[in-house]
Amino acid sequence: RDPESQSILDAHEWLSKLYHHLLRNSKEGQEAYQYLLERGFTEETIIRHRLGYSPSSNDFVVTFLEKKGFHPQTMVKAGLLNTNEQGEYFDRFRGRIMFPLRNHLGKTVAFAGRATGSFEPKYLNSPETDLFHKGRLLYNFDLARASIRKQNTIILFEGYADVISADQAGIPNGIGTMGTSVSDIQAQLIKRYADKVIICYDGDNAGIEAAVKAAKLLKKTGCQTNVARLPNGMDPDDFIKEYGGERFKREVLDASDPYTSFIIRYLRRGFNLQLEGDRITYIENVLQEVAQLDRAIEREHYLNELAEEFQMSIVTLKEEVEQHRYRKT
Ligand code: UTP
Ligand code: MN
Ligand code: MN
Ligand code: MN
Ligand code: MN
Repeated sequence: RDPESQSILDAHEWLSKLYHHLLRNSKEGQEAYQYLLERGFTEETIIRHRLGYSPSSNDFVVTFLEKKGFHPQTMVKAGLLNTNEQGEYFDRFRGRIMFPLRNHLGKTVAFAGRATGSFEPKYLNSPETDLFHKGRLLYNFDLARASIRKQNTIILFEGYADVISADQAGIPNGIGTMGTSVSDIQAQLIKRYADKVIICYDGDNAGIEAAVKAAKLLKKTGCQTNVARLPNGMDPDDFIKEYGGERFKREVLDASDPYTSFIIRYLRRGFNLQLEGDRITYIENVLQEVAQLDRAIEREHYLNELAEEFQMSIVTLKEEVEQHRYRKT
């Protein structure tokens, strides 16, 4: 490893420990610590994920890193410091709750800092470096790896808090992206480590739209893909804190929809099925989805549902689907 990367790794290791210490032991960090406890994160969880607090000073990290002998210019590259027009250095993360972003080896390579108040942005992430590429990292994968293997299933969350909350509730096989959509590389990583993935995004419009995109990509990558549904306006962390981990497993994860059911339900949203024109377009769209299923019994299952709902003959629907399949190949 080149010296600069090593130095960036070392700085992250030092800082994650320092931030963690400040959260738990400093006067400044108290409010943030209380906030986390009130949100239901236990001390054990805070330690396990090494959550921390960055003081609201401009030069706290500057001074600390300088004392440790780090080159400030490298630390700017690392995203730990910023520099202004006068060439002065100052702390990038100020007054935020710190989430270390660890790579698959458990090394902290970046941070996400959550504002304690209603400051924007809510989460400030480190910039990309040679050690940190948003599109290649799976948040919490290092801790989740063993249970992912054992269960052959990955649960994909939208937010850091969701991953941590699930972990605390006895669902250790959760990972997250950095608030960005799932990249091709992340999809391939997911496929490499588990056959099955459950997408568990927030129960709001943004979450549903993101779930559609993620589901399509993961399905295409070859994952057996399910999508969980959350009550309107709730995210997985909210649900777990409100109803507990057992209900989350039963009512959200176990009740998640297989890919095709999810897409069919999603397609419905845009149509008024009382109108004949909408009805026909909707059925057409569903048939296209069904045509993509490899297994005949799966196709039959959805065609039966369709035939029943719209009083159509299964023979006609099957013919349509076969035509789609024929065109596809
Ligand atoms: P959410 O807004 O759903 O936040 O963003 P959250 O995870 O529920 O956080 P809490 O519960 O309010 O603390 C989901 C994810 O999107 C990314 C983060 O990764 C976040 O966890 N995000 C969100 C950002 O990167 N920047 C932002 O300003 C907001
Ligand atoms: Mn690179
Ligand atoms: Mn969200
Ligand atoms: Mn959320
Ligand atoms: Mn949340």
